[in-house]
Amino acid sequence: MTATDSSVTPPAADGAERRAFGIDIGGSGVKGGVVDLNTGRLIGDRYKLPTPQPALPDAVAETVAAVVREFGWTGRLGVTYPGVVIDGVAHTAANVDKSWLGTNVRSVLERELDGQPVTVLNDADAAGIAEERYGAGRDQDGVVVLLTFGTGIGSAVIHNGVLLPNTEFGHIEVGGMEAEHRAASSVKERNDWSYKRWTTEVTKVLIAIENAIWPDLFIVGGGISRKAEKWVPLLENRTPVVPAALRNTAGIVGAAMAAEFDVTATTAASRSM
Ligand code: BGC
Repeated sequence: MTATDSSVTPPAADGAERRAFGIDIGGSGVKGGVVDLNTGRLIGDRYKLPTPQPALPDAVAETVAAVVREFGWTGRLGVTYPGVVIDGVAHTAANVDKSWLGTNVRSVLERELDGQPVTVLNDADAAGIAEERYGAGRDQDGVVVLLTFGTGIGSAVIHNGVLLPNTEFGHIEVGGMEAEHRAASSVKERNDWSYKRWTTEVTKVLIAIENAIWPDLFIVGGGISRKAEKWVPLLENRTPVVPAALRNTAGIVGAAMAAEFDVTATTAASRSM
């Protein structure tokens, strides 16, 4: 039985609470919490420690372990990483220390956690599966694309509840420029742009994506989605756009989901949760 074997979490017919544990590694904080998989809500508060600087793998692993210990969590857990992750190994490091490249993040974390099984997935993928299951994409069939706007742009593609992992729409070229260099929220801040000015760039990125894969819905997340009413109505692309609903817990919730079942496969157990 593997860490992502859905058979370990049969649906709770009695509606009993099912707990899982997720950690979201971000540029400024390592945040963790216990998640009720029936509702997608945190049980109790989330706990956050500052991300060590420099954010080297061993130092971050120690911080992850400290967050886990804070809850006394002893079972499997899910952890996000802000880059491409395949079989636990980090393959890109666009906005994090380059020492992560090629690192087996899963092994580093499991060593620090004395063998507790860890599932590692991309941060936007985690937010995407959480939003699709419990948040803004809840009643949406078809293809949902979640984009997170922050230092970079993260993406998740979910089709009928199944994640296509490691899409990197932040790095596609749009009008001769990488999408995240054109329209991340950090670009808005750096240039001191108005929402209107920034939204023209976001529109270009959304059009490039929708012309390539024709999603049914875009969900926009990241800190700037808290001010969604200021800019989402200004977008001029074709596909409907809605703000993320789970806000700062989406990464933790998605990580916890990934710890308990295979989010890239449709299984009766995972869909009926
Ligand atoms: C990375 C993505 C990540 C996103 C948000 C991008 O630069 O390539 O993997 O999801 O930033 O953290």
